[in-house]
Amino acid sequence: TRVLVLNGPNLGRLGVREPEVYGAASYDDLVSAAGAWGTELHLDVEVRQTDDESEIVHWLHEAVDSRVHVVINPAAFTHYSYALRDAAAQVTTSGLLLVEVHLSNPAAREAFRSHSVVGPVATGTVAGFGFDSYRLALQAVAQRLTA
Ligand code: DQA
Repeated sequence: TRVLVLNGPNLGRLGVREPEVYGAASYDDLVSAAGAWGTELHLDVEVRQTDDESEIVHWLHEAVDSRVHVVINPAAFTHYSYALRDAAAQVTTSGLLLVEVHLSNPAAREAFRSHSVVGPVATGTVAGFGFDSYRLALQAVAQRLTA
């Protein structure tokens, strides 16, 4: 089963960006880790990152059209992108899984991060566990597929 792991703006800067919040590991490390977890879970994982709102929206359309489940860290788009939310809603209403993930726990940070416009249309959310948020999200997808 294919799973797209989509990452929004600034996540390509992992390792360089605010390491006290997001850790010292790089985006490439995340790509390797997610691929390895996919192999363990018998999921065919493809990891992508963009800083571009239209690109991530188009990837969600692609997920719908190709019937692929999604794990997504929408990064800052989480908090204000109704375009991304509407695209995410198409994924879940078409019967596919969409798990929202965050490295940090946005609820424990600045007030603007406590609101997600994506959460209400996601299958579920994992936040606050660093890279393990992605691992837990992939486990949740694998579990749902075998349940
Ligand atoms: C983030 C949390 C967001 O608030 C922030 O804008 C990010 C990363 C996280 O993974 O913790 O870019 O999604």
